[in-house]
Amino acid sequence: MGLGIKTKAVSLMESARWRVGAIGQKLRPALGLAGARVNASFQSPTDMCDTDRIYIYALVRGLRPKRALEIGTRWGGSARIITAAMQDNGVGKLVGLDPATGSFRASNRATHGRFTLVEGRSPEDVGKAMAHHDGLLDFAFVDALHTYHSCAADLHVLAPHMAPGGHILFHDAFHPGIRAAADEFVASRDDVTDLGMVTRSPSVNTPVCNQGFRLLRIGDNTDEMVRESYQRMGVAYPDRPERYHNFDKFAIRIGLVEESGDGYRWKDEENS
Ligand SMILES: C[S@@+](CC[C@H](N)C(=O)[O-])C[C@H]1O[C@@H](n2cnc3c(N)ncnc32)[C@H](O)[C@@H]1O
Repeated sequence: MGLGIKTKAVSLMESARWRVGAIGQKLRPALGLAGARVNASFQSPTDMCDTDRIYIYALVRGLRPKRALEIGTRWGGSARIITAAMQDNGVGKLVGLDPATGSFRASNRATHGRFTLVEGRSPEDVGKAMAHHDGLLDFAFVDALHTYHSCAADLHVLAPHMAPGGHILFHDAFHPGIRAAADEFVASRDDVTDLGMVTRSPSVNTPVCNQGFRLLRIGDNTDEMVRESYQRMGVAYPDRPERYHNFDKFAIRIGLVEESGDGYRWKDEENS
């Protein structure tokens, strides 16, 4: 059976919307509207594999941290990627802590004026690094000495500096020591959500299996995170959240689905 008139009209509108969208997507880079600095993921000097480079750029874009700390900066590769994402976000400042600052290779321009390098060692100099921030961290990147004891000490010193809803990301999380330190930290606190391994990229070409990210969140309240996201974007939280967040009701209102028994069914079903 053919489609109903209303369904055909909806389908035509969808098709037109898709075409306009496709033209827009093609023009975005030319108009400078694309996430232009995503290339920093591939152009920055770091030992991270490609998936991890892309992941950390995307994570920073998505989480939009304002205050971030990197423990272990080396040549500044990850600092370039993180600050590129911050620049694309239009917000964020990264402080890097490393005892071997002579290795650092990123100019102020390459880090978009969003990076401060502090010479020092975690855990003892984390306070010195934090003096460059005016509040708690919403993002910490731990990529320093990959032993159990060092990573456990990094976590211990970071904990009081983390804001509720903040995230801690570890690199080289395939190292057993890092895994053990993270497991222990999660088990010792009831306010940490373990988001687990978030990339599957172990390197087995070296004497130890490295690469890979693991992510922890301080707190587990998704509702709070939803509210805070509006605030971070400078958008008023909807005064009728049910209406804005509940796609079920919206889908009924625009005639996409209708209630049927315990659930919903596509409106199209009656026409097909
Ligand atoms: C794997 S490299 C960091 C790479 C960098 N995050 C990137 O991807 O471009 C590790 C760095 O951690 C530094 N490091 C070692 N122990 C540290 C500590 N206790 N505190 C801070 N940095 C440390 C080393 O000097 C080295 O530069």
